[in-house]
Amino acid sequence: QKAIVSMADFSATAVTQLLDRASAFKAGAQAQVQEPTFAANLFFENSTRTHTSFSIAEQRLGLKTIEFSPQSSSVQKGETLYDTCLTMAALGVQLLVIRHPENAYYQQLLGQAYLPVALINAGDGSGEHPSQSLLDLLTIREEFGHFAGLKVAIVGDLAHSRVARSNMEILQALGAELYFSGPAQWYQTQFDRYGEYRPLDELVGAVDVLMLLRVQHERLESAENQTFSAAAYHQAYGLTEARAQRLQPQAIIMHPGPINRDVELASSLVESPHSRYYEQMQNGVYVRMAMIETVLQANDVKFKSNRRVTQ
Ligand code: CP
Repeated sequence: QKAIVSMADFSATAVTQLLDRASAFKAGAQAQVQEPTFAANLFFENSTRTHTSFSIAEQRLGLKTIEFSPQSSSVQKGETLYDTCLTMAALGVQLLVIRHPENAYYQQLLGQAYLPVALINAGDGSGEHPSQSLLDLLTIREEFGHFAGLKVAIVGDLAHSRVARSNMEILQALGAELYFSGPAQWYQTQFDRYGEYRPLDELVGAVDVLMLLRVQHERLESAENQTFSAAAYHQAYGLTEARAQRLQPQAIIMHPGPINRDVELASSLVESPHSRYYEQMQNGVYVRMAMIETVLQANDVKFKSNRRVTQ
């Protein structure tokens, strides 16, 4: 694959291979580019986890990272996304990691006759977030060793969540049993083909994985933001301490971050024994190393690998 833009790019076998490689990196395997190779991180939307972990992953693989600020670039003079990418390629960049507010922005790039650079989608609007999905899958696999038959609930701001969109199809393909919950106005009937919508109180004691989604205030209509009550949301749709008492012993809580504490889940639960929030963030580095290696190898960039375990 010369580009990873959507989880639809992955078969179940390809997911397994990528997670195996990420696990190997986590166990200490190393890979280094054999020649100077530049990666540019183009983040047109804010990010802490994704941006930083791509940057660390690039540097662990020996790439030279170019950080790009849309605010101080020629984007401000009207340069298009394609011309920005073409410029980066002409300057010698071999990998573009792009986050952009426009859904499926990558289609305008992949549709061009000439774009001699590998591409990874680091999140497009409310479209897809493949690297988050893969790190979620690694976290689930580390916990349970498999996906088939696992009961997974995705709860919250489904309407605006690229994480949910990337996860639902692949989790279903891997054999998980999916459920949805959260405000009814944020549920879309197109999700019916992946799972069932149920009240959170029916799900909380039954699931293996409770995946809570951030309320994306930046994507809500202003009227919705004005009437939003954090306390009311928490009581109706959040993982309160009382609800958490009903989690099964093996159940894990996941959240892509950033967390709105005491909204999607009680602040006291973020570091609870059920929570895998920290592990998700850690796994992001290893999954992104595996993604970068995959797309660059497809673009004929050579790596020197060894399997030395350093941890
Ligand atoms: N999960 C996630 O995408 O977080 P950031 O927006 O901080 O990258």
